[in-house]
Amino acid sequence: MSSKPRQIVVTSALPYANGPIHIGHMLEYVQTDIWVRFQKLRGHECTYVCADDAHGTPIMLRAQAENVTPEELIERMHKEHLQDFTDFGVAFDNYYSTHSEENRFFAEYIYTQLREAGHIRTRVISQAYDPKAEMFLPDRFIKGECPNCGAADQYGDNCENCGATYAPTDLKNPLSVVSGETPIEKDSEQYFFKLEDFEDMLKAWFDAGHVQTEIANKMNEWLEEGLNDWDISRNAPYWGFEIPDAPGKYFYVWLDAPIGYMASFKNWCEANDQDFDYYWNKDSKAELYHFIGKDIARFHTMFWPAMLHGSGFRKPSAVYCHGFLTVDGQKMSKSRGTFIMARTYLEHLNPEYLRYYFAAKLGPGIDDIDLNLEDFTTRVNSDLVGKLVNIASRCAGFINKTFDGKLSAELSSNALSQQYLDAAETIAGYYENREFGKAMRDIMALADKANQYIDEKQPWVTIKDPARHHEVQDVCSIGLNCFRQLVILLKPVLPKLAAQAEEFLNVENPGWTELGDNLLDHRINRFKPLMTRIEPVFIERMVEATKADLVAEQKIQQGPGDSAHEAIAPEINYDDFAKLDLRIAKIVAARRVEKSDKLLQLTLDIGSETRNVFAGISNAYQPEDLEGKLTVMVANLAPRKMRFGVSEGMVLAAGSGDTELYILNPDSGAKPGMRVS
Ligand code: MSP
Ligand code: ZN
Repeated sequence: MSSKPRQIVVTSALPYANGPIHIGHMLEYVQTDIWVRFQKLRGHECTYVCADDAHGTPIMLRAQAENVTPEELIERMHKEHLQDFTDFGVAFDNYYSTHSEENRFFAEYIYTQLREAGHIRTRVISQAYDPKAEMFLPDRFIKGECPNCGAADQYGDNCENCGATYAPTDLKNPLSVVSGETPIEKDSEQYFFKLEDFEDMLKAWFDAGHVQTEIANKMNEWLEEGLNDWDISRNAPYWGFEIPDAPGKYFYVWLDAPIGYMASFKNWCEANDQDFDYYWNKDSKAELYHFIGKDIARFHTMFWPAMLHGSGFRKPSAVYCHGFLTVDGQKMSKSRGTFIMARTYLEHLNPEYLRYYFAAKLGPGIDDIDLNLEDFTTRVNSDLVGKLVNIASRCAGFINKTFDGKLSAELSSNALSQQYLDAAETIAGYYENREFGKAMRDIMALADKANQYIDEKQPWVTIKDPARHHEVQDVCSIGLNCFRQLVILLKPVLPKLAAQAEEFLNVENPGWTELGDNLLDHRINRFKPLMTRIEPVFIERMVEATKADLVAEQKIQQGPGDSAHEAIAPEINYDDFAKLDLRIAKIVAARRVEKSDKLLQLTLDIGSETRNVFAGISNAYQPEDLEGKLTVMVANLAPRKMRFGVSEGMVLAAGSGDTELYILNPDSGAKPGMRVS
């Protein structure tokens, strides 16, 4: 290890201020935090900054729905987010907001530099406009019927039923999600960033290895297709920063969001008397790393380096993408109770269980990471409780009871201690390269060695013979010194456990360089259990609480995915209603449709006949949970030919989106075939 400390700035993506932090987010913040803690433990100057991403249409609309100002909303979210992160042990050096004076300054500065260098141009474009809400509509705020298959309630970019992609202008009977009004087309002038000016720079930058290979390949494909101008402006009303010399035009949220990294760092510099320019000048020797999810790679590996380069700042040393978190092999799902909020997790489980599990699963690539709840329970119980903590609890009792809390003045053997030291540099290499899974595997193999050693020496037998007491003290002192080393090796992952273990061992915050310093003739404190087992019932309670959470959250969540706030449809008369033939249907069979991630094929018994229906509910229900249930179907809907077969009707479900869905259930006593009116 080189003795000269590195100067490192690290960021995680800035979470949107329009909703709470969930465990999918946590994967990223835990990954980054482990890496940062590792760097600090190794003696480097590492500064970890982040912020809430506080601008954009969804935040503006959510504030309206909650009847608060955007400032009030983002202030509350900022507090909640920071509390969630802190309770998960994520230790930012600064957690700021993109709605800050520093960020306004840098956004204006970077934009002005780009404009003066000729990288900005304007063009008149036509966009969907909501005449009632008097605002332009992002694609996700327009819904209508699919131009291809006719499915209702589809978003402005693609159909969840047939998979077709199209422009929002292609939707039949489009409606604004904001007001329920039909959008019109309206021209306006917009500001564009000429990304093509940076083609050569980007090509060279990708080749120089600043991004992972998988990402570089993807970006190079885009480069080959040719780079389009990037629309960086939005029309009022918009929640963000107004563009200089362009009244009524605002920076698109994705322009000022990454600049928020700089703003947060600048704010930290002011409070800590540090030189911002030293870190951000174009020849800076300091290192800069962005940890992000693969969904936002393009913003960070194309737009952001181009913006920095074009305005005279340094570019990132590297952008590290990770994959998405799935739970039990599937996308996190609201109705299955696996869309778990950070706060809900914290109410039921120790955050360090999850930090460890994520670490055990994380590698340097962009593969998705699965949280299998059963495997999670087994792994944490066996590794952390059964292996790690076990070493301390087996040894502490003897030392405290028989030796007055004192470790031996010398050890009969250094063999284990030396093996640990020998393994440490490899483990450090794994941390450095984000091979956390490999690091955890090696550390647990070391823990196994200590347990085997204690098993062989059987101190619980030798303690019965007073003549051999010194042997017991020796074995337990060796065991506890192993434990001490394991705690240092795991400190980036388990900071809370490490702090408690250090208190028990009566040591002060040892760093990586102190790994080999054994505790001799040293008094330890009384042992308190450092971590308890996960009981399966804790998980069950968390899943149940999650289902309840989401009902509450959905009620306030404005924008796409919300039907509770959709405007009521135009009035109809009784005859219109009577045209609908609604029947009680019994779901006699349900199965997944191959090659579709939305559809279930249902066989419905409606008394007089059975029907084959395809329903887009597979993210909300498991087929086996539906079989035998009663529901309500539209029985006289014209059959529709779909990619997978003919659908003979529709089942009724409440909600929207694809995970927040509840099929209707009649009260008990209803029979298949009964008419619903
Ligand atoms: N506000 C933008 C980022 C701006 S950065 C200048 C944003 N916010 S987000 O809240 O949607 O996501 C924040 C980070 O969490 C992103 O890196 C995203 O990839 C990550 N994740 C969100 N859901 C996730 C999973 N289910 N799994 C893993 N990471 C996830 O994007
Ligand atoms: Zn369709």
